[in-house]
Amino acid sequence: MLSQPAHRIVFANEKGGTGKSTTAVHVAIALAYRGAKVAALDLDPRQRTLFRYLENRSETERRRDISLPGASYDVFTGESVAELDELSASLAQGCDFLIFDTPGRDDEFARHAATGADTLVTPLNDSFVDFDLIGQVDAESFKVRRLSFYAELIWEARKKRAMATIEDQRREMDWVVVRNRTHHLEARNQKRIDEALSELSKRVGFRVAKGLSERVIYRELFPSGLTLLDKGHLGELGTSHLIARQELRGLISGLNLPMPATAQDVEPA
Ligand SMILES: Nc1ncnc2c1ncn2[C@@H]1O[C@H](COP(=O)(O)OP(=O)(O)OP(=O)(O)O)[C@@H](O)[C@H]1O
Ligand SMILES: [Mg+2]
Repeated sequence: MLSQPAHRIVFANEKGGTGKSTTAVHVAIALAYRGAKVAALDLDPRQRTLFRYLENRSETERRRDISLPGASYDVFTGESVAELDELSASLAQGCDFLIFDTPGRDDEFARHAATGADTLVTPLNDSFVDFDLIGQVDAESFKVRRLSFYAELIWEARKKRAMATIEDQRREMDWVVVRNRTHHLEARNQKRIDEALSELSKRVGFRVAKGLSERVIYRELFPSGLTLLDKGHLGELGTSHLIARQELRGLISGLNLPMPATAQDVEPA
């Protein structure tokens, strides 16, 4: 029997610091906790945040002599799209999900991964600076004036895929813009962003999902490679962390990913 190809989730936003790597790691580990087989590929050979996060996780497992749900991982240091395709294919073997983390800048390999995504996740902070990546907004009315080059690129990729003659290339792409690192104090700005996003989502065809709030805990977990889901290993957790974990669950369900029928929840320690 032929197994299903891995579902490709690509975290991409050409703007830096929107929380791509942090969200990618949390989604990878959340899927592993649900019993899915996950691989993760870091396409940023300079920063290597996702790769190093997962390396830190492996190191914590060794140091504490514990075993945690996780993902196989690698970082792409090659120089051609063909090399990237080769590494992606080998990493995806036997996996349900292949997660790509991409750099926060215009990059050939990030574009290649983004146009081949099954689920494209674009984390966006609540700022029109970030919004500019998808569309430009009128200075007075905040109405969307024009689409960005990036939105056009994804639009074209989807159109090409819809017309593909080979069935495997005709897969649809679900583009999800994730409101990330949100603060609770900026209601007015959030409302404007909401309105502009809603207008743009109809024009470009993406969905909007709620991501992670701005919380110190996300900055603290990197050295240990732990995530909010590794309950028994984080020490005492306050209520804000419980809410954060709910947020993460909400994000996973908002991404609407195809869970493999055989997957069974791994009980957190
Ligand atoms: N929800 C959050 N709350 C608080 N801090 C966060 C959150 N998400 C990310 N951060 C912090 O913000 C910084 C940037 O996050 P991250 O590296 O995930 O973004 P990125 O989009 O991958 O950046 P780059 O474009 O440089 O790759 C890091 O210091 C990270 O710890
Ligand atoms: Mg990053």
